Amino acid sequence: MENKFKFPDNFLWGAATSSHQVEGDNINNDWWKWESEGKFGEPSGKACNQYDLFKRDFKLAKSLNHNTHRFSLEWSRIEPREGKFDRQALAHYKEVIRELRQHGIEPIVTLNHFTLPLWFYEKGGWIGKGSEYNFAAFAEKVAEELGESVTYWLTVNEPVGNLNNGYITGAWPPGRRSVKEAVRAVITILRAHCLAYRAIHRVYNEKRWHTPKVSMAQLTVYYTPFHPNSKLDRLSAGFRHYYVNKFFINSLISGWCAVPGMPLTRLPQKNSLDFIGLNYYSRNYVRFAGFSPFKILGKEFSTLPGQEKSVKKNCLNWEIYPEGLYKILMEFAPYKLPILITENGICTNDDNERIDFIEAHLKEVARAVKDGAQVSGYLYWSLLDNFEWTNGYRPKFGLIEVDYATQRRTVRPSARIYADIIKNNAI
Ligand code: FCB
Repeated sequence: MENKFKFPDNFLWGAATSSHQVEGDNINNDWWKWESEGKFGEPSGKACNQYDLFKRDFKLAKSLNHNTHRFSLEWSRIEPREGKFDRQALAHYKEVIRELRQHGIEPIVTLNHFTLPLWFYEKGGWIGKGSEYNFAAFAEKVAEELGESVTYWLTVNEPVGNLNNGYITGAWPPGRRSVKEAVRAVITILRAHCLAYRAIHRVYNEKRWHTPKVSMAQLTVYYTPFHPNSKLDRLSAGFRHYYVNKFFINSLISGWCAVPGMPLTRLPQKNSLDFIGLNYYSRNYVRFAGFSPFKILGKEFSTLPGQEKSVKKNCLNWEIYPEGLYKILMEFAPYKLPILITENGICTNDDNERIDFIEAHLKEVARAVKDGAQVSGYLYWSLLDNFEWTNGYRPKFGLIEVDYATQRRTVRPSARIYADIIKNNAI
């Protein structure tokens, strides 16, 4: 029999979700506003109604051997008006955390997974005046209220994707298309992270709680030059790799933010990552498009012409490239920080593909661990089928199937295979 690789002791195993994608009825945020204005195909509506059904879902996660669960706080529920915190919403999330703990499941709490409270959105979102202080005040409040039972915090989910869609393509709220505004938003989010990092650590310190572990969830994409022999394609792929995968992390570690064409900006804090959180799904190809500061990032393609049929893809047309996860992990191995895979998953209508996906990616994680990457855990995206942003309910990412009409949950075979891997702590 083939020798299995044992993952490190205390490896964190589980799945991830986010509030707007599973809770339902998040009527007080920017996405809901856009959905009601008909700007997206399908509104989130009741989603998986996890706001009411979380106990049922966590019981399932426990039965599947998960020892960790990543979820996000819905800021718009906790702070429905600027500076006014809702006791009931805070009590709700306290119960969510208590329930996880009762099952022996480690909560990993994201403070902001894309959606913004309406008041914050109306003030200009991430480019509104003082937005980083608003975010830090929210972080401080939830750390005080919930922190005693939480160790792991992720401040912001995928700032790169969020900023690209919100401030460059304009496809997501706030629908801006301005490089200048995007750069401002980048700096503000970096500052917001630093201030939140400080606030959380300060609260734990003052209350003499254990030491928290704070990071953010970084989007990563493995980039390949469109023409491997083209020096210019290689140059652009290199730039894109730096900006998408490394820029936020490097800035937060060094305490400096360097954007071409902008003065070097000092951040309020250096070394503000206690671990590295990485989301990984796919690889893309990059073709040179010009030398100007923005064009140097090249044009991005999800497949090479002629390979559309031969390459394995998920239902959103993202290439499945497990080796990319190894390469990304090895890229961050020299940082000497623990790495948590905060998202990795596939949307498919064929659950066998999910089994192959999980096994292939975990083999790459194992290879990276053998080669020195300090990986501390793996979170599959997602525990349940859910609201996939502008793509609505069609993509099925879940280990657990959801019938949205009845809110019935059905555990997929892939979830049981993943449960066995967790039980053996080995692949
Ligand atoms: C990630 C998002 C997550 C989910 C997956 C499929 O980029 O963080 O909310 O939509 O993609």
